[in-house]
Amino acid sequence: MRTPLIAGNWKMNGSAELVHAFGERFRDAALPAALDIAVIPPFPYLHAAYQAFQGTPLTLGAQTLNPLNSGAHTGEVSGPMLKEFGVTYALVGHSERRQLYRETDDDVYARTLAALNVGITPILCVGETLEDRDGGSTMDVVLRQVGHVMARLETEQREQVVIAYEPIWAIGTGRTATSEQAQDVMSGIRAYQGEFDTQLAQQLRLLYGGSMNAKNAAELLAQPDIDGGLVGGASLKIDDFHAICQSA
Ligand code: G3P
Repeated sequence: MRTPLIAGNWKMNGSAELVHAFGERFRDAALPAALDIAVIPPFPYLHAAYQAFQGTPLTLGAQTLNPLNSGAHTGEVSGPMLKEFGVTYALVGHSERRQLYRETDDDVYARTLAALNVGITPILCVGETLEDRDGGSTMDVVLRQVGHVMARLETEQREQVVIAYEPIWAIGTGRTATSEQAQDVMSGIRAYQGEFDTQLAQQLRLLYGGSMNAKNAAELLAQPDIDGGLVGGASLKIDDFHAICQSA
């Protein structure tokens, strides 16, 4: 019922060469028919990716966006600009943006709105630190992050949002959450949405992120509430990313 989504977040990595290699590899790739795939490269590669991915199942994502449409904001990129390059998805609230660039829940809400306003699907990233997990506050932290955005949106807007659960302690560490740990949090997020709107809760796409790779993807993706993955390091290796897509 929910179409799986595998999204590869390249972060500040990659090259024009890699963009072209992805275009070539995915042109005739045998992949599940009902599967959405997004590659999320750094901004400078969006144009090349837009061209290289024509005729492939790859869609494009952006790693962030400014809440405003234009203005005196040196270094920033807006939703309408991304839309011009065929961007389908935008990450909002990635833990690296929250931690390294001090983005607050309010900033994340503003970016979510900016994406929705131009018809870009926001992928709202949430997740707890190791300290939160050890202190038993995982669900409080995650539902606060989810609620801060979702509770302020209109129903039609909420229906467009994808949520990615990325435990911070599992990002880039090689330490993946177990499928049970991931499923527990995902089912908690879905149940929370169900308190407001049962239909939305059933439609909501939930991705797992945090050291997902070609070996552990199948088990994680087999969990009933995990509808896809937000892949970092492994999304830079074409064979691994392709294998993850095949497991979806
Ligand atoms: O957004 C993806 C992410 O943060 C996970 O990164 O390298 O642990 O797969 P990684």
